[in-house]
Amino acid sequence: MSSSSTPTPTPSLTPTLTPSLTPLACGAELRKACDAARRRGERVGFVPTMGALHAGHLALVREAKTRGSFVVVSIFVNPTQFGPNEDLTLYPRDLASDLARLEPLGVSAVFAPQPAEIYEAGEDTRVHVGRVAEPLCGSIRRGHFDGVATVVAKLFNLVGPSVAVFGQKDYQQLLVIRRMARDLFAPIEIVGLPTVREPDGLAMSSRNAFLSPDERSRALAVARGLSRAAVAFASGERRARVLEATAREPIERVASSIDYADVRDADTLAAIEDLTGPRALLAVACRIGATRLIDNVVLGVDAPPLAALAG
Ligand code: PAJ
Repeated sequence: MSSSSTPTPTPSLTPTLTPSLTPLACGAELRKACDAARRRGERVGFVPTMGALHAGHLALVREAKTRGSFVVVSIFVNPTQFGPNEDLTLYPRDLASDLARLEPLGVSAVFAPQPAEIYEAGEDTRVHVGRVAEPLCGSIRRGHFDGVATVVAKLFNLVGPSVAVFGQKDYQQLLVIRRMARDLFAPIEIVGLPTVREPDGLAMSSRNAFLSPDERSRALAVARGLSRAAVAFASGERRARVLEATAREPIERVASSIDYADVRDADTLAAIEDLTGPRALLAVACRIGATRLIDNVVLGVDAPPLAALAG
């Protein structure tokens, strides 16, 4: 408190405090803020997330900042992309720490709605993407990509971004969103960014928080399997089944289950036998303890994930 006898510090000596990011919870308010930004001539960039933000998410936000002046981040644990026996209620949520991480990045708006704001009473539309959503996670997590495509379409319509940034960590999701945006004539540039990893090679994921120290070290087998397959590919191996078996071997030793370790066409996700044609993806989904992890490499394009290839 200042009194009449205390001189007020000159403005130049006052530390500049960044105004706190106040998340918007109302879709109409978000739309208003984005409309106003566009009227000012700003280019709107968008990064949708489910929160529990880590360096992978922050890399997407930084990329969005280079491509747009008004960057919106959504934080919404989307119920429609979780199956009945999945971890919707357990999914890590920490809005205060998410906001603290976003604040220094110069994000213009954070949208953190309640489920009823996105799925209002009586809403009855789902976006279904076809072939590219069918294999891999699509066949294991039935309805998952309908939930993803639906929420992303809704968010796109509220934000109206010129550019939206996604991670290749969720490679199939990225293809699903690209397909949807293209098929629905959404005038949005979809940018995919490489997977951000821990120093030892584990792909960053909000779900890594569930891993016990022992599971955390076992989880490295995923990066190890992908790396061994990437090295085999670099040495000339082109048989898809052999590359899959190479990836599987270290994972099998430590995982409680493997949903898939599949080589697929990297653009269509069609099954392939030999990698003599277009780019190929090697994608893995497994459980370490009770935690489901996914990871992938585009063979011949991505570096082997494992920091130390030995072991
Ligand atoms: P979430 O898992 O929070 O991921 C948000 C975005 O961050 C996605 O584009 C995801 O691919 C990216 N991401 C996650 N881990 C990454 C890593 N290690 N490196 C680089 N990018 C990473 O994906 C979702 O949320 C949801 O399905 C969503 C698209 C928000 C729809 O609900």
